[in-house]
Amino acid sequence: MSCRIEFVDSDKSPMDLKEGECLSERLTIHNSPILFGCRIGICGTCAIEVVDQDKPLHERTHDEKEFLGAMAPGRDNVRLACQIHINTNIKVKKTDI
Ligand code: FES
Repeated sequence: MSCRIEFVDSDKSPMDLKEGECLSERLTIHNSPILFGCRIGICGTCAIEVVDQDKPLHERTHDEKEFLGAMAPGRDNVRLACQIHINTNIKVKKTDI
């Protein structure tokens, strides 16, 4: 199954990824508007806001929970793209935390 990611605040075309693929690997190769730094969930460079999803993304990872709990408390739709293995169609935009 493929999962589509759309970038709502960019003119970058949507991308289709295989279910389970890691966003940090695929988005970097395809020069997406989402940038990455550490890729292990501790810098926040890859913070995105999920503005729509066909079904819930997988739960935040332990590191993601800790980081976003401190840096973006109460913003449940903010995720770290480097921690996401895609499992559904999503629409995202880059966000600051
Ligand atoms: S790239 Fe550093 S938190 Fe995602």
